[in-house]
Amino acid sequence: MHFKKNKLFIEKVSGLKIVQKFGTPTYCYSLKKLKDNIRNFQKNFGSINPLSCFSVKSNNNLQILKEIKKSGMGADVVSKGELIQALKAGISPKKIVFSGVGKKTEELKFAIEKKILLINAESESEIFEIERLAKLKKTVVNIGIRLNPNIDARTLKKISTGRLEDKFGLTEKVFLNILNNFKNSNFIKVKCLSVHIGSQITDYKPYSRMINVLDKIIKKSKHLFDYIDLGGGMGIQYEKKNKLFDYKKYNLIIKKFLKKHNVKIIFEPGRSIIANCAVLFSQIIYIKNTEKKRFIILDAAMNDLIRPALYGSYHNIIPLIKSNKKNKRIHDFVGPVCETSDKFLTVKGYQHLKEKEYVAISDVGAYGMSLSSNYNLRPKASEVMIENKSSKVILKRQKLFNII
Ligand code: LLP
Repeated sequence: MHFKKNKLFIEKVSGLKIVQKFGTPTYCYSLKKLKDNIRNFQKNFGSINPLSCFSVKSNNNLQILKEIKKSGMGADVVSKGELIQALKAGISPKKIVFSGVGKKTEELKFAIEKKILLINAESESEIFEIERLAKLKKTVVNIGIRLNPNIDARTLKKISTGRLEDKFGLTEKVFLNILNNFKNSNFIKVKCLSVHIGSQITDYKPYSRMINVLDKIIKKSKHLFDYIDLGGGMGIQYEKKNKLFDYKKYNLIIKKFLKKHNVKIIFEPGRSIIANCAVLFSQIIYIKNTEKKRFIILDAAMNDLIRPALYGSYHNIIPLIKSNKKNKRIHDFVGPVCETSDKFLTVKGYQHLKEKEYVAISDVGAYGMSLSSNYNLRPKASEVMIENKSSKVILKRQKLFNII
């Protein structure tokens, strides 16, 4: 994304052309950015040769998953739906891991039938259920067990997953007990220790603490794991004050760990691959000036992008045409949904905007479209992919008659 003669461009296509052709609200992705991100991720961890499984919950668009497949990455899925979508994109079952605290019997059955690489189990009851199903099918199922390492990733409270009070994984004691209990199972092989401490983590130190915990518990267990699944969580720079994640340090820490443990590393990145590949284009419906504020009322709303309303997350808003004319008032960029929290951004001073103009909400590729809903019976936005000079729809705008 860049400006040319004050006009916003995604690769070689101007924002204005995109909104005129596809309407708004529209999620718009840059294929080049996606490819660059994947290449950088692979380069950052090149020396440890990991299996990187894209976290489908961050973005489940089929065309995007097809690009993921082309790059050689696998998939991290959390439901039967995501598993089907990953397989549809052509991702090999041997590169798919299945996480989540509440997989239903039908979902486990399906995963077993598809012979995916690992089911990462999160409770003893789940492991019994997998064993029961494996026995029925007279097969052996490879599983991972998710550890709760009791580490505070110091990210947003709502997206922390590695503390004792969080529902995820098993504590050290239970983890070790289970390893022991299933040691001689004829139907379950514990191949992996998995862990994921949270999302949008910008500091490498929580990971460093996590690796220390893993090191100790692996030694204690005396179990030979084939895989250590370190999850995802690497943060991106939504605003300048966010630190850039130090991949070099994290890579070094893992390299050290691998000197002591002969295992294959799995990653489950979502945000770091796809977040900064997309903007959400939106048109200004009305502008309402009140005593306190200038409300910029957009045609995108919290049903299209819920992160600001749900987590108070920051997404920059960029005009499609830059101008030097300023308005010093407090601007609230809001959507039409009937909730006070349907607000994207508050800023003091912004360039002078007019009704019917367009803006782009930035860094929305991860947990944007995948968390969208039909709240207020609003049809879901369309998704468009830009590649150099070309643009194509990768998901059609929902039709009102399909949802009512
Ligand atoms: N693996 C597991 C087991 C996870 O739970 C998650 C994210 C990931 C991998 C991918 O994490 P990432 O690399 O994308 O940080 N909706 C929230 C984020 C929720 C993350 C849930 N788990 C948001 O919009 O910030």
